[in-house]
Amino acid sequence: MSDEPVKYVLPESDIPTHWVNLMPDLPGDPSPPLNPGTGEPAGPDDLTPIFPMGLIQQEVATDPEVEIPDEVRDVYKRWRPSPLFRARRLERALDTPAHIYYKYEGGSPAGSHKPNSAVPQAYENKKAGVRRLATETGAGQWGSALALACSLFDLECVVYMVGASYDQKPYRRSMMETWGATVHRSPSDTTEAGRTHVEHQSGSLGIAISEAVEVAAGDSETNYALGSVLNHVCMHQTVIGQEAMRQMEMAGEEPDIVIGCVGGGSNFAGLSFPFVRRRLRGESEARFLAAEPAACPTLTRGVYRYDFGDTSGTTPLLPMYTLGHDFVPPPVHAGGLRYHGDSPLLCGLVRAGLIDAVAYRQNETFEAAVRFARTEGILPAPEPAHAIRAVIAEAESARESGEERVILFGLCGHGHFDMSAYDAYLSGTLEDIEFSEAEMEAALERLPEAPALA
Ligand SMILES: Cc1ncc(COP(=O)(O)O)c(C=O)c1O
Repeated sequence: MSDEPVKYVLPESDIPTHWVNLMPDLPGDPSPPLNPGTGEPAGPDDLTPIFPMGLIQQEVATDPEVEIPDEVRDVYKRWRPSPLFRARRLERALDTPAHIYYKYEGGSPAGSHKPNSAVPQAYENKKAGVRRLATETGAGQWGSALALACSLFDLECVVYMVGASYDQKPYRRSMMETWGATVHRSPSDTTEAGRTHVEHQSGSLGIAISEAVEVAAGDSETNYALGSVLNHVCMHQTVIGQEAMRQMEMAGEEPDIVIGCVGGGSNFAGLSFPFVRRRLRGESEARFLAAEPAACPTLTRGVYRYDFGDTSGTTPLLPMYTLGHDFVPPPVHAGGLRYHGDSPLLCGLVRAGLIDAVAYRQNETFEAAVRFARTEGILPAPEPAHAIRAVIAEAESARESGEERVILFGLCGHGHFDMSAYDAYLSGTLEDIEFSEAEMEAALERLPEAPALA
């Protein structure tokens, strides 16, 4: 056996004690979310009908670090700290001088990074005396994570699952039901929002969010839980980057580039924000690259404007890159990346030029996923396969220039429930679904009235 390490593992005592809140480090004054009725900055009162105060405080926190409750760290112990791998076999296959590392979140019970936020969200709601949580799910990963967390904290859970994913990944539904959740195919006939959008049978995250928010707003014992986008969700995920930082130290390296996929931004934020903080404080020169689907190119083709977080226009207005809140992205297999907007924190950093973005089509993404599976062994979810595509491009460019670049990327979930997508790719029937510029332009016409962003 060679003495080359393949993975870097930390003891349970190294589970972070705090989450990283990047808010106080951001350049300039961040634009606040707005109440769509008054046009005024949305405050905690705008959020109390659907969120518990503990999470609202985290959402608006200005301290650079927020303590993780012991009860949450106790649950994190089930899969944290997660391993950091060195992709030595992929490096050899690519014949690259680049050193490639990946932080693997697929070992959580639900198979992705999503439980890192589902657990503190369920915990805060339980503490506030809430009986039930309502949510949306794109790929089924977030719904599974929340179903798991609700079962651990003895809460009921109702999930609106985007229609295309409900059909593509039937066993994700079984998984959620096993943990005790009720699952509806979205658009459903159980809500006004679902009935209004019945013509979009493939559904979208925006429509599913509208359904879940409607259910939460209409029942005082039900709250809403969001799997991405908001500040507190991105903050919960920073356990990933903090652990990765220690593990990179164990490996004796510093990343030159940090790469992740972006749906609403939470796994990317979770891995990168601790490193972004270093860069903002002048302690590193690392680059950051976000990978998204060419069929839903929010960061690479969207406009930087205030928009609703959901299709029906029920949320506060968020400052973000958007394709338009009622743009329904084509049904690509990376269901977790089919979102019209992105985290305002992440968008602000893209706008400021700190984070770059790139978009890939389905076939080139799955080609990278299969290459990864055949070298590293792990079968990635379609979402992080976008990051792998970007990693391969970066490693190939390091080979061209003969540079020993250090690449760190987020392998935020496994693809064991995504085999219909792999089947389509392997049988040559996977389509590179076109993004419709005309549909985006039409959706942008319907953006709400709001002040322009700098
Ligand atoms: C495995 C996986 N990766 C990434 C995402 C995208 O979400 P986010 O950008 O919040 O990490 C999802 C969302 O469902 C997912 O399931």
